[in-house]
Amino acid sequence: MSKILIIVGTESGNAQMVGDTLMDEFTAQGHEAEVVSEGSLEDMDLGNQEVVLLCTSTHGLGELPDNIIPLHDELVETKPDLSHIKYGVIALGDQTYAETFCKAGKIMDALLSSLGANKVGERLEIDACTQPLPDEEAIDWSKEWLAQVG
Ligand SMILES: Cc1cc2nc3c(=O)[nH]c(=O)nc-3n(C[C@H](O)[C@H](O)[C@H](O)COP(=O)(O)O)c2cc1C
Repeated sequence: MSKILIIVGTESGNAQMVGDTLMDEFTAQGHEAEVVSEGSLEDMDLGNQEVVLLCTSTHGLGELPDNIIPLHDELVETKPDLSHIKYGVIALGDQTYAETFCKAGKIMDALLSSLGANKVGERLEIDACTQPLPDEEAIDWSKEWLAQVG
């Protein structure tokens, strides 16, 4: 069983809904899961986390949701060693924004990887244009992701 920290970046609640749904799903499977949407590296205890699921939407023109900008900036500024962490990324976006589709998820993915965190599975990109049920797509994806987390 794993202890999983789900970090949510959201402006209008879709990524929060996905994160909350996955927390319930993981907990029902016997894992320990927590959702956070704000706080410092210390608040999130990233130094002691082993499994992180980053779940974020994109806003503006390829921008991070406001609530995870402080986390992003702290990671960039302090460059912690995250090589003890296995992570996955769920990126919510909209294909209408062709140039910046799921860009916030891509930015956070690249950042975690650059700090030594170990990506498990492929990034899930959920298109709001074609997927009215992002939580269901996320649950399906998470089954394989969890199996790979081990
Ligand atoms: C003002 C605005 C700007 C957006 N910009 C982008 C974008 O640049 N790229 C993208 O893939 N999706 C973009 N989206 C789509 C959102 O990421 C998508 O609707 C997502 O499901 C919202 O999730 P949230 O409710 O968790 O914020 C934008 C949506 C809005 C309302």
